[in-house]
Amino acid sequence: MNSPFNASSLTTLCDSDMSADLHLANARLVLPDQVLTGAIVIENGSITEILEGDQVPVGAIDCRGDLITPGLVELHTDNVERHIEPRPEVDWPHLPALIAHDAELASTGITTVFDAMRVGSIHSGKGRYIDYARKLADELLAARAQGFFKISHFLHLRAEICSETLLQELATFGTEDRVGIVSLMDHTPGQRQFRDLSALKTYVAKKRGMTDDEFEAHVENLLGLQKRFGAKHEAGTVVEATRLGAVLASHDDTTAEHVATSASNRVGFAEFPTTLEAAQACRSHGISVMMGAPNLIRGGSHSGNVAAEELAKADLLDIVSSDYVPSALLLSAFRLAQIWDDLPRAIATVTSNPAIATHLKDRGALKVGLRGDVLRVQLVDQMPLLRGVWSQGKKVG
Ligand SMILES: [Fe+2]
Repeated sequence: MNSPFNASSLTTLCDSDMSADLHLANARLVLPDQVLTGAIVIENGSITEILEGDQVPVGAIDCRGDLITPGLVELHTDNVERHIEPRPEVDWPHLPALIAHDAELASTGITTVFDAMRVGSIHSGKGRYIDYARKLADELLAARAQGFFKISHFLHLRAEICSETLLQELATFGTEDRVGIVSLMDHTPGQRQFRDLSALKTYVAKKRGMTDDEFEAHVENLLGLQKRFGAKHEAGTVVEATRLGAVLASHDDTTAEHVATSASNRVGFAEFPTTLEAAQACRSHGISVMMGAPNLIRGGSHSGNVAAEELAKADLLDIVSSDYVPSALLLSAFRLAQIWDDLPRAIATVTSNPAIATHLKDRGALKVGLRGDVLRVQLVDQMPLLRGVWSQGKKVG
């Protein structure tokens, strides 16, 4: 990791709304190393007691044997972008978009989110991206400071290195923004996520409605940007992540060589390695591997890359992210529990493992002293049905 990330001061700033005491009894508690029938008590926003047994004291909620898990910790979701731009070129009013995004995540069991925002814009051509991250971050931080959110929000800057304005945009962020994650992205066609150009064409054509000629010009433009900016922006982003005190993440690493470069950049975790080879290299360099929940649920990647299930079976999967489907996160943990026959281990991929990767020491497990972020889950035909979501002991979903 690059530098210490002061989670406790961050938490103080973003969460001021404590709640009444909560006592969930007669539950199956998913603890870090076992599932225990018992009760959990949350007072002043934190877990104060974990008790064994199926008694239901007066005033407690009888969970009737439902599971209680920690709240989910989401490191990479495109969901906020989907709300502010519900269709290409449609700029929805940001505050209501942020509030709707927050409520949607709460309804899926996510109690901590690192909101991904692209930095690095391209001002020309049909594949253009306009700078928006600084303004949106200001709006998000202001909404957070005013207590508008149900859940805990941090910033994740997705640094697109093959762009025109990346370093200027990063320079507008400072330590006061408490950026949690900076990820290094290179989506140049013909490599990494888009080795298969036809998959890129399908994705871009659908999203931006390009003709064949426009798509060809778009690819040429992106190849030119990589030549001009790729190496310089990668090196500059590593320096900026250190300056910001953020955890650095790699993205779409495909070869052992990519991973060696990521290791030399001191990345903390790898987002969506695209091959078994890259995931194995991550393991040997001590880099945690994150894969997408939709990939796990669908049984494969929409870009034609390695299946998350294959990595899970090879013991090469540490963290799951909801990516582009928030509700997939909880589902994916229960899918992993089936694959591994180990519920605590599966739940860790969406709770304690992402918390550890981002240096959040105050959450991610059912332990006395940690935040009272918990979920009540009923299993119906092996599918998890969310019955309740609490953030710092306050019901938010
Ligand atoms: Fe990607």
